[in-house]
Amino acid sequence: MMENEELLLLDLKGLEKSPYMLRREEIPDTVCEVISEDERIAITGRIKKLLKEQNAVIVAHYYTDANLQSLADETGGYVSDSLDMARFGHESDAETLVVCGVRFMGETAKILNPEKRVLMPDLEANCSLDIGCPIDAFSAFCDEHPDRTVVVYANTSAAVKARADWMVTSGSAVDVVRHLKEQGKKIIWAPDKYLGEYVREQTGADMLIWQGACVVHEEFKGLELAELHRKHPDAVVLVHPESPAPVVAQADVVGSTTALINAVRTYPARKFIVATDKGIFHKMQEAAPDKILLEAPTSGRSATCKSCAHCPWMAMNSLRKVEQVLMTGENEILVDPDIGRKARVTIQRLMDFTKGRPVALASDA
Ligand code: 13P
Ligand code: SF4
Repeated sequence: MMENEELLLLDLKGLEKSPYMLRREEIPDTVCEVISEDERIAITGRIKKLLKEQNAVIVAHYYTDANLQSLADETGGYVSDSLDMARFGHESDAETLVVCGVRFMGETAKILNPEKRVLMPDLEANCSLDIGCPIDAFSAFCDEHPDRTVVVYANTSAAVKARADWMVTSGSAVDVVRHLKEQGKKIIWAPDKYLGEYVREQTGADMLIWQGACVVHEEFKGLELAELHRKHPDAVVLVHPESPAPVVAQADVVGSTTALINAVRTYPARKFIVATDKGIFHKMQEAAPDKILLEAPTSGRSATCKSCAHCPWMAMNSLRKVEQVLMTGENEILVDPDIGRKARVTIQRLMDFTKGRPVALASDA
């Protein structure tokens, strides 16, 4: 690929945009923490002490390391999807939030809680959707369509949220867009093209869709999934809507990470094929220990998989790094106050909209 192809504006279907082609070398290798049981016990003991001393809690995403999730649960912290992580951080009395996830999650926590200290184990923990939606190109795209309501996925920078009217998460996108459609609004959607297509198909809304993608979910393959399902016809297929349409089309349940865990808990079936980051298996297995979970295929005849169902950025979170940031105060998330104020309005709109709504329930496909 030529150098100047990196930032390229292309017209797709006349109006939709593909601004940023992520190069393969921009996706880090997935490196998970390897730790002995003795070291794990010692390090978690030290972290527990530090959390107490600093009135701090760990807020972790389901895709992070199982040891981190267990520690968050044991210490009064929280493990959830991106919407609930934001809610918990906002409602918690802790003075410090240690956000184990990716950068936009730390930024959202800081925007909602400017008075709290927000630390992250690794500031390089980003997201291909966030990287693929740079503020200048996105802002120019919005300027071209001033008649449209701008809806952005949570997986974006603070600056992109500040430019938007609404922020949504996977668990709330369909409801919000349906609500806007009922008000006669036309929409700009960014950045995930697959989630955008799914929302458009569910709501029939008029949407211009930014052409970003999650490098993890994009790897799930329709043909190989169908083959696996033929071998396990009794399995329920669970799909996160960041996956491509041929994968979503085969789903029994499409939903946020919380929705997919709820499905494993509540469906009477014994076997599930799961098309999302495999970090989620920890909570699924905890919720339903007797159920059989199969990974949806990423590698097969048509695959060129790099991340293989485990987000390389989520994997940057580790026990050792949590201890390090609590000891040093390094890796504090700071957001420009002006951008933070504007982004807060966008995020708060969603918090108000979802209050009391069962947004995390699975939707049968
Ligand atoms: P959820 O909001 O469903 O947890 O999704 C966040 C994410 O990054 C999925 O890849
Ligand atoms: Fe971003 Fe995909 Fe990783 Fe989620 S799994 S944080 S969408 S790159």
